[in-house]
Amino acid sequence: MLQSSIELRPITALVPGKFVLRPDLFLIIHAPVAAPPPDSSSGRGGEPKPLAGQPCSVENLSLGPGQREKAGAGSVLRICPKINEEAFVLPGKGSNFRVWETMMSNRPRFPGRHFLQIPGPTPIPDRVLRAIDMPVIDHRGPEFQKIAKRVLEKVKAPFKTKNPVVIFPASGTGGWEAALVNTLSPGDRVLMFETGQFAALWKAMAANLGLKPEFIESDWRIGADPAQIEERLKKDKNHEIKGVCIVHNETASGTTSPIAEIRQVLDKLKHPALLYVDAVSSLASIDLRHDEWGIDVTIAGSQKGLMLPAGLAFNAMSQKAIAASKNAGFNKSYWSWADMLATNAQGFFPYTPATNIIYGLDVALDMLEEEGYERIFARHKRHAEATRRAVVAWGLEVLCKDPKYYSPVVTSVLLPPGYDADAFRAVVLENFNMSLGTGLGRVAGKVFRIGHLADTNDLTIMGALSGVEMGLELAGIPHKKAGVQAAMAYLADEARKTTQKLAAAE
Ligand SMILES: Cc1ncc(COP(=O)(O)O)c(C=O)c1O
Repeated sequence: MLQSSIELRPITALVPGKFVLRPDLFLIIHAPVAAPPPDSSSGRGGEPKPLAGQPCSVENLSLGPGQREKAGAGSVLRICPKINEEAFVLPGKGSNFRVWETMMSNRPRFPGRHFLQIPGPTPIPDRVLRAIDMPVIDHRGPEFQKIAKRVLEKVKAPFKTKNPVVIFPASGTGGWEAALVNTLSPGDRVLMFETGQFAALWKAMAANLGLKPEFIESDWRIGADPAQIEERLKKDKNHEIKGVCIVHNETASGTTSPIAEIRQVLDKLKHPALLYVDAVSSLASIDLRHDEWGIDVTIAGSQKGLMLPAGLAFNAMSQKAIAASKNAGFNKSYWSWADMLATNAQGFFPYTPATNIIYGLDVALDMLEEEGYERIFARHKRHAEATRRAVVAWGLEVLCKDPKYYSPVVTSVLLPPGYDADAFRAVVLENFNMSLGTGLGRVAGKVFRIGHLADTNDLTIMGALSGVEMGLELAGIPHKKAGVQAAMAYLADEARKTTQKLAAAE
């Protein structure tokens, strides 16, 4: 919770009463507030009615049609109103509510680049942007056919597979669905591990599709534990479990799961379930070996390690998965692997592909090759280590509690009890033009996430950590001013070692 108005000004004029909304307004609500129900004729509120003690929600703010979102007490609410729209805010019974207007309202433009330190979408390198910024061509013509054939071959590299990889015009969520409906049948049991919010969403999808998903529950502070998976699969004597679904890098909690060890469990038990791996936030950032680790379907998206806009979903498949797809009982059309594989073989797609993102993919894959995947994985580990050292030096806690599962891609940071992580993120955004990742699901408001993936270097990380340290100061969050120093010392030391290694190799 923000402790003072160091960076945020109270909008005194509306205590209690009404105020005029502006495009850059943030409200940070610390207690129940009340507002009149909208008047149907004008869309504006009627007489304000105080509420007694219930949590704040936007239902309690009269924002006019189309501007209501859920928010909890103490949360930050970004409102993008029509300029000059009126809103009412009233304190609830015995409340000490405060509404703060951020300084951004009065700020001129921020010079320099926005710091996008969320764990994806990630900043797009200029070279990739230039590749995307090309005239649209006929996706059924010979020029695109040539590009598609090349890209469909090249895209196997980050998956480390020789098998086909299909590309849907979709987000990662579409990739989840395609994987399940192509290989399973309604009523099939699938085993999933509760690594965090994305595992929870995937499980909800499986249930919605008519599968029978089962969770191995966890507190979101570890990755998928092979021992617990083994224990569960051992009990599945009749092989009713048809799939094991694991989120390789759980972007919500900042944990990475040991896929090779999970494969070994399946092999040891001779369990025939298909292994599904969500690599949406790990592909091209964390080592992943589709073929060697015997993954049956790897799901990925374009907007993270591949340094592209959102818009492409990938399924890499095994021969076993392709065989399963011939007998899978789900109806499908858009997501059909069979249609994709048949048209891809000619360099085409069954429907309009995201042509310009595919141009970008062509170049992004070249850039990844040029840096080298091993160097990329080492870079991600180094930046994650620098970030964790900063967190520890600040006296804060990393959400992932077991080093075995530390994520090279994202670090989720717990704030001390009573401090709102979203209010903190708002201070950082307003003052330093940096976006940090929000806490999702059960850790909403408790954690913020620092993304350290994709097109990132040592100085980007130091800039990001400086923004966090200054933000902690401005938001009045207790911490030691030692995080930036700790990260800098570590990165300088690593740079020295690299220089020495290169010199020795000459
Ligand atoms: C691990 C993971 N899986 C799945 C998804 C869903 O992907 P999308 O938002 O592209 O649909 C995300 C998104 O961030 C993710 O991080």
